[in-house]
Amino acid sequence: MDELNIWQIATFFVWLVGSVTFILALKFLASPKTARTGNLLGAGGMAVVIAWTFLTYDLASPESEPGMLSNWWIILVGGVIGAVAGTLGARRVPMTAMPQMVAIFNGAGGGAAAVVAIAEFLEFADHGEGLLPLPFVIASLLGAVIGGVALTGSVVAFGKLQGIVTARPYMLPGQQLITGALFLTMLLIGVYVAGFENSIPLFLVFCAIALVAGVVLTMPIGGADMPVVVSLLNSYTGIAVAASGFVLSNYALLIAGTLVGASGAILTQLMTKAMNRSLFNVLFAGFGTAGGAAAAGEEGEEQLRETNAEDVAVLMAYGKRVIIVPGYGMAVAQAQGPVRELMDLLVAKGVDVQFAIHPVAGRMPGHMNVLLAEANVPYDRLKEMDEINDDFADTDVALVIGANDVVNPSAREEGSPISGMPILNVDAAQNIVVLKRGRGTGFAGIPNPLFSNEKTAMLFGDAKPSIEALVQGVKQA
Ligand code: TAP
Repeated sequence: MDELNIWQIATFFVWLVGSVTFILALKFLASPKTARTGNLLGAGGMAVVIAWTFLTYDLASPESEPGMLSNWWIILVGGVIGAVAGTLGARRVPMTAMPQMVAIFNGAGGGAAAVVAIAEFLEFADHGEGLLPLPFVIASLLGAVIGGVALTGSVVAFGKLQGIVTARPYMLPGQQLITGALFLTMLLIGVYVAGFENSIPLFLVFCAIALVAGVVLTMPIGGADMPVVVSLLNSYTGIAVAASGFVLSNYALLIAGTLVGASGAILTQLMTKAMNRSLFNVLFAGFGTAGGAAAAGEEGEEQLRETNAEDVAVLMAYGKRVIIVPGYGMAVAQAQGPVRELMDLLVAKGVDVQFAIHPVAGRMPGHMNVLLAEANVPYDRLKEMDEINDDFADTDVALVIGANDVVNPSAREEGSPISGMPILNVDAAQNIVVLKRGRGTGFAGIPNPLFSNEKTAMLFGDAKPSIEALVQGVKQA
């Protein structure tokens, strides 16, 4: 082994420290209380690794490799564009559009990893010095295919979530056959490029097929399943980054990619479990093709019992226990601030107030937790579904704020598009009050029998003014 110079040894040390911050960041991200610290720690660690690699690259490079600093301005300009786009995106994009933003950022990550793998292969291939080392070529091929699929798959996911591309599952005629042919062709090209000839044109054809495969694999998946898909693509990006780290012999990249790959895979598994579906079913079953997911429409014409804010306020103020069930509508209305105020007033009146958090309420994992944390609702009042589901029976008022699918009892019946999805047992409460604007359906686009339940009263209107009216009502009760 070549002797390492002091800068190379220092670089390994900095990479190690960076990798430790990534692992600690994941640990902190596990709880809303420490998530901000975790985020800062991981981002800070990555910033240090990037700055160090950038500033010392020439010093740490072996004599034979000319430094990259001749290209420093390209790297800097790219970094500035990325930082500005990221900062503006994070500041300007509303909470309800976060999933799309995550999808597109993930696509950028996958694309970057693919480009690194491609650039390295192009630099070393076809120099007439025999075949490149097999592990290097395999890692380049993997980085290119997984990063390419993550890139175009994420762009399609972004389009579906943003409403640019149809959210309905879109199957090509002979879908399975086309997917199979694409992967078989990639396999054959990959074997040839790795084992027989490091052909650049064939490698580029391989990359182009990977881009097409990302689109073909994602189009048949319905909008409602997009978060699962984004999480899976996120895992792919991690693996592509790890492959690029291997190609570049950059251990920080290798570790960061592996962590993203593994955590994305775990998140995917948790989300499919929360929806009670298998990953296979999400990816290949075309869920929602028959008027199911994302076909948001209108409720039926049943008679719904309407109520008003004063009556609901009295019901809650004189009750013993109130469970608040937030959903996507609370995010749309940005009602979390008034909800917190309502909670404070009820608690001051001696009412036991809890929040029931369904794992897929809203449009991204942890959506409700983030919004309620933003409004300083204490964490110990947020109860997960399994923890609180038995308490509804002993509850005076279940206040459903813009939630629909996650409280839809038809999930308990066979044949519904959401059959088997675990739901909050809101219908067990003594009184149910539902806040929504009208007869709009939830994400799954199906009617909800909870609304016509005899214990249910509807408080129609945008959730924010409705909650503000409840606040006034409770003050006067
Ligand atoms: P949804 O089922 O989407 O229902 C939201 C309800 O909020 C709608 O019925 C809508 O009715 C109402 N609403 C919308 N804007 C409102 C406003 N300004 N004020 C008051 N109400 C408003 O929400 P959910 O119960 O939270 O369920 C989430 C769904 O999204 C599930 O199907 C889940 O699988 C899916 N999903 C989840 C995720 C993750 S990971 N969390 C990601 C993507 C999709 P009106 O139009 O009548 O007001």
